[in-house]
This record gives sequence, C-alpha cells and structure tokens, in this order.
Amino acid sequence: MPLALTNAENSADFDTKDIIAMVSRVIPVDPFDLVIFGGTGDLARRKILPGLFRRWCAGQMPSDARIIGAARSRMDAAGYRAAVKEAIAQFGKDIRAEAEQLDGFLSRISYVTTDARGEGGWPELGAQLRDGVVRAFYFSVGPGLFGDLAERLHQFGLITDASRVVVEKPFGRDLASAKALNAELAKHFREDQIYRIDHYLGKETVQNLMAVRFGNMLFEPLWNAQYVDHIQITVAETVGVDGRGGYYDKSGAMRDMVQNHLMQLLCLIAMEPPSKFDPDAVRDEKLKVIRALEPVDYHQIVRGQYDASSEQPSYREHAENPRSTTESYVAMKVHVSNWRWAGTPFYLRTGKRLRARTSEIAVVFKETPHSIFGDEAGGHRNILTIRLQPNEGITLGVTIKEPGPGGMRLVDVPLDMSFAEALGPDAEDVPDAYERLIMDVIRGNQTLFMRGDEVEAAWAWTDPIIQGWEKRGEVPKPYDSGSAGPDDALMLLHRDGRRWRDIRT
Ligand code: BG6
Repeated sequence: MPLALTNAENSADFDTKDIIAMVSRVIPVDPFDLVIFGGTGDLARRKILPGLFRRWCAGQMPSDARIIGAARSRMDAAGYRAAVKEAIAQFGKDIRAEAEQLDGFLSRISYVTTDARGEGGWPELGAQLRDGVVRAFYFSVGPGLFGDLAERLHQFGLITDASRVVVEKPFGRDLASAKALNAELAKHFREDQIYRIDHYLGKETVQNLMAVRFGNMLFEPLWNAQYVDHIQITVAETVGVDGRGGYYDKSGAMRDMVQNHLMQLLCLIAMEPPSKFDPDAVRDEKLKVIRALEPVDYHQIVRGQYDASSEQPSYREHAENPRSTTESYVAMKVHVSNWRWAGTPFYLRTGKRLRARTSEIAVVFKETPHSIFGDEAGGHRNILTIRLQPNEGITLGVTIKEPGPGGMRLVDVPLDMSFAEALGPDAEDVPDAYERLIMDVIRGNQTLFMRGDEVEAAWAWTDPIIQGWEKRGEVPKPYDSGSAGPDDALMLLHRDGRRWRDIRT
C-alpha cells in the first residue's frame, strides 16, 4: 500500500516541472582540451567517450572543445574517429542524437600515438594543446603508468597552471602503494589539480544522500545513536568476474568495492554536516569518519566466494585459479567511534553473483520507547531506505493504523519517492556518473573526488583486515550463485538480534 509522494498534486509548493527544469538544466563548461591516455581502452570506449558525447548533445560542451586520444596503437585521427564512432554505436545506444551532432562531436576529436615510457609522440601532443584553456589529462591506464605519464608531461613542458589530472581506481592495493602513487603525482601536480575518481560519488542518488541529510530539517536531528538502531549498506551484483578474473583475483571484494565505493557511502551517511558544500569542507568531514573507524575484529567479517550454478561457472573457474582464496563477497560489522555513532553498528556487504543487482542504504531507526497500543500492536520501526540502483529513490517506512474496524492494529507502509516517477521521462536525462565527474573536472570542482589523505586513510583501515586474512590463511566461505551470500553472513546480524534486508530489485 504505497502512499504516493510523487508529484505536484500532493503539495502546493512542490512542482514536478520545476524539478525537471532543474535536472535538465545544463550549464556549459569553459573551453577545454582533454587528453585521454588509454584512449583506445575499455573504459574510454564504454564510459568516457559515450559520456562525453552525451554532454555534447546536451549542449554542455563548448563547440571548440578538443578531445585527444592518446595510446600506443599506431593510428591517425581518422582511424581514431572511426573507433570513437563505433564505441558510441556500441555503448551509447540510448543516446538520442542527430547525425549532425555526431559529426560535430567527431570533428572535435584527434589522436596521437604516445608511449608513456618513451619519447615518441609527446612533441606532437604538445603541438595540439592550446594555451589559456583548461587542460585535462585523463589517465585511463593502469596505476603502474601514472608516474611515467606525469614524468613525461613534465619533461615535455605540457603541465600548465590550468592543468588537471584524472586518475582511476584502483588507487594502489595497500597503504604503501597508495602513498607511492600520491608521491609520484605530487612531484608534478598540486593536490588541487588531482582528481581521483570513485564513480560511486558521481551517481545521482549518492549525491542525494547529502541533499537528504543536509537539505532537510526532518532527518538530521534523528541521525545519531540515540535514534538509529543500525545502518545497512548493501551493494549486490548479479555479474560474476568473467572476463576480468586476472585483475579481480589479485584484488577481491575488499579492495575492489569496500575500500572505495562502500567506504564512500559510509562516509556520506556518517559524516558531520560540513560548514558548506565545498570540496575541502566535505572531504575533511569524510576523512574524520574514516579515521574514526574502529579496527574490525575478524569475527565481525565474513568472506565468501561463489560456487558454480547449473548455468554458470564458479568463481575459481572464472578466475582461472582452481585454488583461489580471493573473496567475491564481504560482509562486516563496523563501528564509527565518535559521539554521534557510539554503539550504532554499520553493517556493510557487497558481492558478485548474488540474487539481484541492488544497492541501497537502510537507516533502521529504534522502536518507540513505549507502545501505547499494547503488546499486540507489535514493535515497529521506521526505516529510511535510499535506493542507489536500480529504481533510484527514497522510501520511508511509516507505521500507521491498519485500515478498517477491529481495533488498533498497526502496519508499516512506505512513503515512496521514486525518482523515475517524480521526474518522468526526464529522469533519463540525468547524466551518468562519468559524465558528471568529467564535467566537474573541467569546472574545477573536486567535491566528488577523493583527496590523497582520504585514500590513504581508507587503506590504513583496510590493510590490517587483509593482512589478517593472509596471516591466518583464511579461505572464503562458498555460497551459491544467485543466493544472498554465505550463511555466516546471516549469523553476523542474527547474533545481534537483527536481520539483513532482502536482496531484491
Ligand atoms: C567497479 C568494480 O569499480 O564497480 C566492479 O571494479 C563493479 O567490480 C563496479 O562491478 C560496480 O559499479 P556499478 O556502477 O555497476 O555499481
């Protein structure tokens, strides 16, 4: 029985048209040159180039913007344009565009053959860059090349004051390697020029976490250990690691998802209100959360690895490592040791090949201190659920009287705000994470990017957990493909008298 809180009919001062206008409002960015190192790679083809094309179609990119692909492959600009066209056809199927728009976009694209470890191509790249415009270098390559690329850019005098560098995860595989990467970048770029991407921060609903918390009076007074029983953060995927077993088997869910994406979600949910929505104010508060995380006892963590199903191979087959002890699932109980959260557990879980693809954060409030309706009415809790994907939206479970005669029976109903319903077809025009983040790079807004100290603090907390597993020679628990994860994960909450929310879309 959902109570629809969806559109203007429900409120005099809430107009869907205004929201749609805001969402679709496009503020053009300044002229820029964007160099994509790894311009022929998977990420560029799947995300970066189709994303840029969407922004072009939305009118956000200036007509003289330049996008320069850079990679080792020998090809000319025409060859690269053809590859970009193909990538857009394959990965940008949803883009509604006229042929002229595509031609216009392709006319902004060129290519240089460069080698991060050699000298070829760098003067040619320099010749294509303009002075007086934003210069962004996107390192869409493995972290092993970050230092070399920064060095070459410096050697050939290509780094200007208006230059920015964008780097992808994984940003290191432990604290020592993250520190080394930070140091390599810091040799030639200031911190305010470095944009470390965590694409979860670019997701519309993830940003909405901040809007919900700090744009409403309703929630913030209750957002603490006194009123919140516990918080669950779930990022469940149905995909396995097929095709990327080589990378994944050396990482595992802890490095691939928890150290970055789940940690960012935890920070946004747990942080104190920043004094303003400004990059350092926000990141200072997130950093305090990471530093307040208690070390996790190994009894409070469950690692899992998916088994084969009738149609799908097991993790070990996907990873081509019959004895792999890498986890494809992690669940853990975490404490943020500060006044706001003392005693309130945060339960985090993420895994591959689970029952459904769903990511959500559930804030489970405490029961009322005293029930005036007697024992029969049962105990009820408000649960605020923020659904990150799919079906993005926010639901607040509210207890009401069960309609009809027969006494005072209580029932929980959702106050449901689905973004797709509220925004209608225009919800589709909301930029995807990469689009938004790349435009933020051009605008010079670092709020949704990780600062160097944040990444290091996250590794400092993660390292002992991984080292503990290695030291104890721990083997992950098997779980069925298509299930909710290993049974031990159920016990993690059961022991505390709680239960996980269902994994379903
Ligand atoms: C990536 C991980 O960072 O995020 C992948 O490397 C994971 O393993 C992906 O599948 C999930 O992202 P999304 O946006 O699909 O939730």
